[in-house]
Amino acid sequence: MMEVPSFTLTRQMKEMEKELSAAIQQVMESGQFILGDIVKTFEEQMADYTHSRFAIGVGNGSDALYLALRAADIGAGDEVLTTPFTFFATAGSILRTGAKPVFTDIQVDTFNMDPEQARTRITPRTRAVLPVHLFGLMADVEALRQNFDGIIIEDAAQAIGATMRGKPAGSVGDLAAFSFFPTKNLGALGDGGLVTTQREEWANAVRALRAHGARKKYYHEVVGINSRLDALQAAILSVKLPYLDRWTQKRQHIAKRYSDGLHTLGLEAVHIPVVPEGFTHVFHQYTIRVENRDRLQAFLKSQGIGTTVYYPLALHLQPALRDLGYHLGDFPISEQVQNEVLSLPMFPELTDSEVDYVIEMIGHFYGKRVG
Ligand SMILES: Cc1ncc(COP(=O)(O)O)c(C=O)c1O
Repeated sequence: MMEVPSFTLTRQMKEMEKELSAAIQQVMESGQFILGDIVKTFEEQMADYTHSRFAIGVGNGSDALYLALRAADIGAGDEVLTTPFTFFATAGSILRTGAKPVFTDIQVDTFNMDPEQARTRITPRTRAVLPVHLFGLMADVEALRQNFDGIIIEDAAQAIGATMRGKPAGSVGDLAAFSFFPTKNLGALGDGGLVTTQREEWANAVRALRAHGARKKYYHEVVGINSRLDALQAAILSVKLPYLDRWTQKRQHIAKRYSDGLHTLGLEAVHIPVVPEGFTHVFHQYTIRVENRDRLQAFLKSQGIGTTVYYPLALHLQPALRDLGYHLGDFPISEQVQNEVLSLPMFPELTDSEVDYVIEMIGHFYGKRVG
């Protein structure tokens, strides 16, 4: 029996150990641990990589969302439209500003915001739309723009390097939030995040808000938070960034191998990820929809294969958000997919034979032989 982890960093760490140690050493010698030149250099690299005018390093992806919202002056009395099928931070960050998250359902094939439905949920109070580029596929921000002339903030936490009609994640919204949580496609050795924006005024606002609202040290114009990117993390991310496109290509290769293999099995019970025309998917997750999900997951586990359910409970059904007043039945697609999704092992160092083993065992579960 083969052991295939759902995710592991140990293979990548082994390959990068020397380069990362040298970067860490350099930070120790610099004596500058929070912000400073190393962070500035990384911010410039990220602005370049995301085709954005400004990039501002912050403490984590959740704060990146919060600070993007705050920079655009979104708060009490405002509504922010987003989807319920995402990580909790998306809605949590909206609530932290005092604004109200308003949910709109996803499309079943992309797991992303349905622009048609979003249009019907826009009200005079909707200050911003916050689409999530889930699993590494961008939401159709251009379609959203056609029906909304307010602020669009991309939750690009899972989509670094993804493109839509040639435009990278982080460049199509008015603001965007990235996460460098260790398991992300570009991961730090701890927490990290970044805001991109095209507007200088908002870039300056994020810079102030990440330092307790002070543009000038000890002179506070507004109440901000402490959320800065460590030099250590920036140095590590600068070492990793040049490898990102190669890692993404490996993820895409793995995804194609999964999709081809599963397609060949011809299983009606399994739906493979869809990549719409004009989009590139960076496969932060390779997520299928299946019948008998929990039984399949348990069977794969018994065969040494790790999988994960992102996400088992849509946000409108979360106890913490019950005050928003939503009920079971409000977002049928999100409620359907929360019971069907299964994310298969996905990381750039996964081997072809590991992928083939996963495909074979899925075939085995549904009673089909491979080859
Ligand atoms: C879609 C989404 N939004 C926001 C976040 C928050 O990022 P972080 O964990 O860095 O706070 C994450 C990642 O965890 C995420 O996946």
